[in-house]
Amino acid sequence: MAACLLEQGEDAFRRLFKYYKRRKPPPDFSGVVDFSRAEKNLKVLKAPLNVSSISDQDACKAGLQPVHKWKAYGLDGYPGFMFISDPFLPGWQRYWAKQCLKTYPQKPNVCNLDLHMSPEETADLWEQSREQLRLKAPGKREAKSLLEKLRWVTLGYHYNWETKKYSPDHYTTFPIDLAYLSEQVAAACGFQQFKAEAGILNYYHFDSSLGIHVDESEMDYSKPLLSFSFGQSAVFLLGGQKRQDPPLPMFMHSGDIMIMSGRSRLLYHAVPRIVPNLEGRAIPSCLEPMTTSDSCSAGASFRQSDQGDWEICAKYLQNSRVNMTVRQVVGVGQSFPVEPGGGKIADSQPYSYHQDPSKEENEHKRQKIVNEEVAEPP
Ligand code: OGA
Ligand code: MN
Repeated sequence: MAACLLEQGEDAFRRLFKYYKRRKPPPDFSGVVDFSRAEKNLKVLKAPLNVSSISDQDACKAGLQPVHKWKAYGLDGYPGFMFISDPFLPGWQRYWAKQCLKTYPQKPNVCNLDLHMSPEETADLWEQSREQLRLKAPGKREAKSLLEKLRWVTLGYHYNWETKKYSPDHYTTFPIDLAYLSEQVAAACGFQQFKAEAGILNYYHFDSSLGIHVDESEMDYSKPLLSFSFGQSAVFLLGGQKRQDPPLPMFMHSGDIMIMSGRSRLLYHAVPRIVPNLEGRAIPSCLEPMTTSDSCSAGASFRQSDQGDWEICAKYLQNSRVNMTVRQVVGVGQSFPVEPGGGKIADSQPYSYHQDPSKEENEHKRQKIVNEEVAEPP
């Protein structure tokens, strides 16, 4: 077959990436591991958690269920990889999604739009976009709001996409709420000393993908990398230590948390596709408002908060997925290299779709790739 010939010589990861990204014909998702469906998959294992490491009260303050209620999984052959299937308390996913859309894109945090817009223009993406988003009719081709053009936000030590490094000269306070959440999750997974120092937030729509990469810019690989998902689902590909190793496909749904640590800290991975939540609803039900009785008091104030804001978030999330990744950059006893440029330069190509964020064609380029695939012979 022509398609097979074209694919010859391509590595297994690229092939599967393209397979799941394909529009016509759509891929078969039945081989995608779904941790939310009490998998019979032989690779899925129960993962032990450190149940006594965080109190129910501390978990609650972060918007999480008591640790003994979490459903945590591992994967045979991937030591250090952990997957926690939506451990959030009712109502709290909304809080985190709103932080990603309304609060974290604000200055002094950095976003892709800053690379070709003035600070005044990007000062309040939320205010500038809310009316446009609110009035957006489904299925109609309309100009994109700034919020819809948002691709990434960096927090704490701001990742430099060009040098692929973090720098002590470009640090702003890491959001305390997200640091708290991350440190609770890390502790429950056995990483008591984890410090949330850098965040990369990714904003995806149904036509977005994240290229094959390894996160190796941090300086201490003994520290885990945490990843949180909200909104629509993703197909996540977890590969091996070599770029060519065939990856394992899995779904990440709203509320799911992934931890890459130990021998899985430096594995290749990618997100070839965003898919509508499997419940077939506009918004996954775990993002619905909670009932009043099961409240954790610390969260009650957030949950009561602005219904208008939520309507904007909901509109956005109908077509989108937000992913927060949290990293510790500097290990205990480590410091940044003194010399500028003296640090380690990653030799892989992380974030291929972010590679040149200064160019607006990025969006078009990705669109073109989809179109090219559509035009490919079956
Ligand atoms: C990342 C990353 C994956 C995701 O930001 O490094 O791999 O699930 N994100 O969006
Ligand atoms: Mn990554």
